[in-house]
Amino acid sequence: MIDVQGLHKSFGELHVLRGIDFHVEPGEVVVLIGASGSGKSTLLRCLNCLEIPNRGTITLDGEAIDVQRSDLNRARQKVGMVFQQFNLFPHRTVLENIIEAPVHVKKEKRDAAIQTARMILSQVGLADKEASYPSQLSGGQQQRVAIARALAMQPQAMLFDEPTSALDPELVGEVLAVMKELARLGMTMVVVTHEMGFAREVADRVIFMADGVIAEEGTPEQIFEAPQEQKTQDFLRAVRQI
Ligand SMILES: Nc1ncnc2c1ncn2[C@@H]1O[C@H](COP(=O)(O)OP(=O)(O)OP(=O)(O)O)[C@@H](O)[C@H]1O
Ligand SMILES: [Mg+2]
Repeated sequence: MIDVQGLHKSFGELHVLRGIDFHVEPGEVVVLIGASGSGKSTLLRCLNCLEIPNRGTITLDGEAIDVQRSDLNRARQKVGMVFQQFNLFPHRTVLENIIEAPVHVKKEKRDAAIQTARMILSQVGLADKEASYPSQLSGGQQQRVAIARALAMQPQAMLFDEPTSALDPELVGEVLAVMKELARLGMTMVVVTHEMGFAREVADRVIFMADGVIAEEGTPEQIFEAPQEQKTQDFLRAVRQI
């Protein structure tokens, strides 16, 4: 579903991604972990064409993405992205937020988009909130709207960049529950998260990034119980102390 070869990305002198090879099967859930600054967000942003890599290839669903030439809207339709900050349009209702891209980017008929949006809203447990504005919702509800908005484009894969990090602890569970359900339904997912419980329970594979490369990857058991690399061991020890 997602295939990345030899990906490099620099910001000026700063060489952030230093040769990433990365492959995600359809229906697979991959959790990305790694220290702050190791390049996790940059990798996700390259997958979604929010950043243009300096070198390397990205193939989504069998289709090579020419990031230089910009078939960017197509790439963004193939993969949905959910951010730590929900990025909803504050002056639009929940329903309007969700149908915005289907109507204006995909040119879906408004009525059809509304029908789909209502279905997805009930899937994320917010059927009764379609007329609310983001400011009237809790953080957990806003993040579920953000997930619904991404799903409304019917993406082939979903990317999550620390989707629960901005939430009060008591709201984390409801967002993780929606993500678990998506995984159960077979969605291909790449998730950057510090929620090790989620990683253990839901991930098919855990990737540990350090200094712009994939330092180690394996099943959750392999990475959490028996990490091979010193860097992975140090990172996990630090995380467990928090
Ligand atoms: N637009 C940008 N311009 C310049 N430098 C950037 C930009 N985006 C990211 N960086 C730098 O690239 C490096 C990797 O950043 P990135 O956000 O990918 O790390 P991360 O692994 O997601 O970290 P965190 O866990 O803190 O979110 C950092 O040193 C960061 O300062
Ligand atoms: Mg990040």
